[in-house]
Amino acid sequence: MNMHDLTTVEDFNEEDVLHKIHLAEEFKNGKSVELVRPVYAMNLFFENSTRTHTSFEMAENRLGMKLLEFEAQTSSVTKGESLLDTVKTIDAIQADIAVIRHPQNDYYKQLLDANLEISVINAGDGSGQHPSQSLLDMMTIYEEFQRFDGLKIAIAGDISHSRVARSNAMLLNKLGAKVYFAGPEEWMAEDLEEYGTFLPIDELVDQVDVMMLLRIQRERIDENAVIQFQPHEYLQKYGLNFARAERMKPEAIIMHPAPVNRGIEIESSLVDGKRSRIFKQMTNGMYMRMAILTDVLESKGLIRGGLN
Ligand code: CP
Repeated sequence: MNMHDLTTVEDFNEEDVLHKIHLAEEFKNGKSVELVRPVYAMNLFFENSTRTHTSFEMAENRLGMKLLEFEAQTSSVTKGESLLDTVKTIDAIQADIAVIRHPQNDYYKQLLDANLEISVINAGDGSGQHPSQSLLDMMTIYEEFQRFDGLKIAIAGDISHSRVARSNAMLLNKLGAKVYFAGPEEWMAEDLEEYGTFLPIDELVDQVDVMMLLRIQRERIDENAVIQFQPHEYLQKYGLNFARAERMKPEAIIMHPAPVNRGIEIESSLVDGKRSRIFKQMTNGMYMRMAILTDVLESKGLIRGGLN
């Protein structure tokens, strides 16, 4: 597939996902690449981030790329410049890659329509897509089970506001896994109904191979419409508490894209427990982002000798 840009997982097939996983594994095992010339990346984050921002930055550094600084708060966006004009500016000064997180769903479509030389990697658009997170999640699941076909995976929590739920439900279906959703019924998403069955978490915990928890995305919820929960009440009704974790299958794992709100969607000590792959997801994220960047650089002829 054309890897000039990576904005959504919608066009991915099984072969594309496995290619990314194998390339990320190669980086994990010490692979390195050489660039044909200095390559410039800019990370434009219009929403807060710890993991995605720092792991893209680490991946870019490990690949020998040069980073251009960008702070949304001190950029000309504060003077009313549009996202499109901001990215056209970075394109004009001949940066090679823009990694962008933005609160607006589908923000990237206008950038792709502009046919810019600069490559766009979507680091999360509103409640739309989070392709790099989804691919690192697939890597983590594949490392654990060496397959997707037939796996049962629950995505539990604030589904409707989650770009992770959206990207993962789409990809897991393509890969042959069986997806289930759980959480407050009000937060199930109509557009995701075709990808999985919504059930109470108590009917899922002893059935699934992966229990994937999600944070309540308060920044995307109208405060007046917020379903009011006390943390303990939410945990007992919808979260992964000790009693539920005890019922999980022996080999089942816990995942969470993070940031985690300990004690709300998951009991705090389970985050660090033996079933948890939450910090492994973060490590894999750095290698997966090296793989994503490398494929984009390869499509631009910037990897010396190509990938073979
Ligand atoms: N999982 C994730 O996207 O985390 P950050 O918001 O910290 O990047």
